[in-house]
Amino acid sequence: MSGHEKLEKNIGIMALAIAAVISFGGLAEILPLIYQAEAIEPLPGQKPYPALELAGRDVYVREGCYNCHSQMVRTLRFETERYGHYSLAGESVYDRPHQWGSKRTGPDLARVGGRYSDDWHRVHLINPRDVVPESNMPGYPALAETRIDVAELRARMRALQRLGDPYTDEEIEAAGDAVQGKTELDALVAYLQGLGRWAPKG
Ligand code: HEC
Repeated sequence: MSGHEKLEKNIGIMALAIAAVISFGGLAEILPLIYQAEAIEPLPGQKPYPALELAGRDVYVREGCYNCHSQMVRTLRFETERYGHYSLAGESVYDRPHQWGSKRTGPDLARVGGRYSDDWHRVHLINPRDVVPESNMPGYPALAETRIDVAELRARMRALQRLGDPYTDEEIEAAGDAVQGKTELDALVAYLQGLGRWAPKG
């Protein structure tokens, strides 16, 4: 038997060989990203999410909005004409975990900030059919009744600070005032309105 035949006929060796090839491919894609400054550094002037938006981001993740919405504009002309500037790696450095996704039951949201008024978002999130009659997006009316948990938000900011996000102790302390009396709906709208803030214009 030739070496190759042995490999093909022995499932154990074959499995190991497949694992080795896939690991090599994975490392070749992942390792450069870990060391490429451009991919791990924020864009000029970019700051981590303000407290209210961070709370909104947590709601976004918890509610699974990413199941229907991506947040990554690809470098293709029909994408940039529809959404705006293609996504840059630096834009997501403060996203843990990132929300790039690939499932687009609804439109990409990476550039949705400022496209609609706060009121539009509120109505849309409570019952999408009120503003987009043919929409099949679920409504999230409970968010308007749920206050933001300040202690939890502070704990999250502290965790992010430990991971290297440049939050100051004062900012974490001030988070209580920033979200005082706000609902999860307020936070989610603030988050959506901030999406695309750091993207190059035009
Ligand atoms: C079952 C799939 C689904 C889920 C889950 C979903 N959406 Fe949507 N979303 C859609 C569809 C479809 C549209 C397009 C129709 C419309 O505007 O309602 C849309 C539209 C939107 C828009 C308007 C985008 C634009 O550019 O016009 C925003 C903002 C939005 N969704 C936010 C959210 C948020 C925030 C969540 C989570 C709380 C969420 N969506 C969850 C399907 C979904």
